[in-house]
Amino acid sequence: MKTIDLFAGVGGIRLGMEQAGFTTVFSNDFDTKCQITFDLNFSDPSMTCKSIDALDFDSIPDFDVLTGGFPCQPFSVAGKRGGFKDERGNHFFTIARLIDLRRPTAFLLENVKGLLTHDDGDTFRTILDTLYKLGYSIRWKVLNSKVHANIPQNRERLFIVGFKQEEHASKFHFPEPIPLTKTYEDFLEIREKWSRTKITEGKVYDALQEFGVKEGYSYQWRYNYIREHKAKGCIPCLVTVGKSPIIKSFEVGWDSKIPIFRHLTTKECFNLQGFPYDYKMPYSFMHERHLYKQAGNSVTIPLIKRIADGIRISTTHHPNG
Ligand SMILES: C[S@@+](CC[C@H](N)C(=O)[O-])C[C@H]1O[C@@H](n2cnc3c(N)ncnc32)[C@H](O)[C@@H]1O
Repeated sequence: MKTIDLFAGVGGIRLGMEQAGFTTVFSNDFDTKCQITFDLNFSDPSMTCKSIDALDFDSIPDFDVLTGGFPCQPFSVAGKRGGFKDERGNHFFTIARLIDLRRPTAFLLENVKGLLTHDDGDTFRTILDTLYKLGYSIRWKVLNSKVHANIPQNRERLFIVGFKQEEHASKFHFPEPIPLTKTYEDFLEIREKWSRTKITEGKVYDALQEFGVKEGYSYQWRYNYIREHKAKGCIPCLVTVGKSPIIKSFEVGWDSKIPIFRHLTTKECFNLQGFPYDYKMPYSFMHERHLYKQAGNSVTIPLIKRIADGIRISTTHHPNG
């Protein structure tokens, strides 16, 4: 089955869909920094880099499943006006127009959990209402990477899945919880790469010393204090701004292990979203803050794969029922 990948970022949804057996025929994002990372890893097709508002929908190839982790814009006013066809500036309504035009078999949308309560729930009601009016059967659920994907990151995200046929929707199930058997230590790089992220002095270093940082836990610097993530072996949700989580680690000398504090590297942040280890990083073309942002903006690949498996199974015709 063919998919299109809107708001593609660095291709997280695309990777998960492809791991579940889907073929990507179109990817779009307007961020040129994302495009550099994306095009290093995907070529056929590479990214169409322009604003979704500037896309000619007729130029998008045939597809069965539309996917998109769309940015959440405040659109309470738009919602109250009703009639999504008028709301040209809003990304959700742009997606809705494309669904209406091309009538895919299914779609998968991803967003922050806060979308459910935004504007007292009006925003989400508008989204569901719009999708129902298009004639789609909708399922939605908040899933957490550490609960549903065996990735030790506390990342809750809202997933909305829609099907053109109710029969497909009735067969679809979101992934059930699975045991978390890994810790963040399973996703770390070799020690030579750590030096760039080592914390050796300054107020963060002093605060870490004072806090009594424990091995196996992760920490965040919150403006002027240290916060410990309560679950051992897990990291907090990766975000788009600020520094990555801090861990206590060890530099191995000839005859000793020297404890150090360090931030997770950009590669480790991608690893902790479940990106394959051979995913290429454009280190020499880009400041690392863009890579941290890209990791924080992306999705947990094994979670997308599990949802995509569900979409594939529920939309595939089985001759024996
Ligand atoms: C939450 S991120 C999605 C990340 C993606 N799922 C991934 O795996 O990296 C939202 C993306 O929407 C893109 N975006 C925002 N406004 C856009 C627009 N007008 N046209 C195209 N892309 C846009 C941003 O550049 C960003 O990469």
